[in-house]
Amino acid sequence: MKRALLSPWLVSLLGIALLAAAGCGGEAPVPKAPTWVDDVMPILRANCFTCHGAGVRDKDAKRWDFFYDPDDPKLRDINLPIGFMSPVTLASGRWPLWLMLKGGDRMPPVPAPPLSERDAQVLKLFQMSPKRGTRPANHTPKAGWFPKAPWFVVSDDDGEQVLGKLTCGSVEVLIDHTGNQRLPAGASPPCTGLLYDGQDLQAVTLD
Ligand code: HEC
Repeated sequence: MKRALLSPWLVSLLGIALLAAAGCGGEAPVPKAPTWVDDVMPILRANCFTCHGAGVRDKDAKRWDFFYDPDDPKLRDINLPIGFMSPVTLASGRWPLWLMLKGGDRMPPVPAPPLSERDAQVLKLFQMSPKRGTRPANHTPKAGWFPKAPWFVVSDDDGEQVLGKLTCGSVEVLIDHTGNQRLPAGASPPCTGLLYDGQDLQAVTLD
């Protein structure tokens, strides 16, 4: 078999490609003013949502999977009961994230590996001035019967968590997560309501 594959030319080309890959593989630099949408949510999604997300109902671990500002007027329009999420604003009592990470009870808990220096730094900077940030081309949240009433699905093409409320006749239905769900007993179509992805409030009708 010919040794063409190991020609010096090819070896040096491979070397350059490897160097380039190593250069790109490093962690992204710490942004000066991290936002939830661009910087913080990806870190929490990778390290925290398994325990602090919608799927987990450990009552001790509050949800962190939505930029939850109780003073957000759009959130007040939905008028959700508060308490199941940890507020992410300084005004509402300091986001405890960084304090917790500094203390003995680190998150994510052992045996998960600790956050990288870079990610911990992003969270620390974020907590000093928590801002959600916006998506330049935001997808609005959606809901539809699936496969048919009383089952429905709530989704958001940006992968945002969605909160909202439906009114079906005289019954109010709380939406506190994306994904498949079922109308509670007593609620039947048609339903109208509002969904909120943290940026846009979307009116929906399921009839
Ligand atoms: C394996 C599950 C698990 C993972 C992963 C996890 N947590 Fe927790 N976390 C918990 C539990 C359970 C509690 C509540 C009990 C406690 O305070 O120790 C908690 C409590 C907390 C609290 C205190 C909340 C309060 O209101 O006092 C903070 C802050 C926190 N977690 C942040 C995080 C962050 C940030 C991450 C990801 C970097 C994370 N956690 C990952 C299970 C987890």
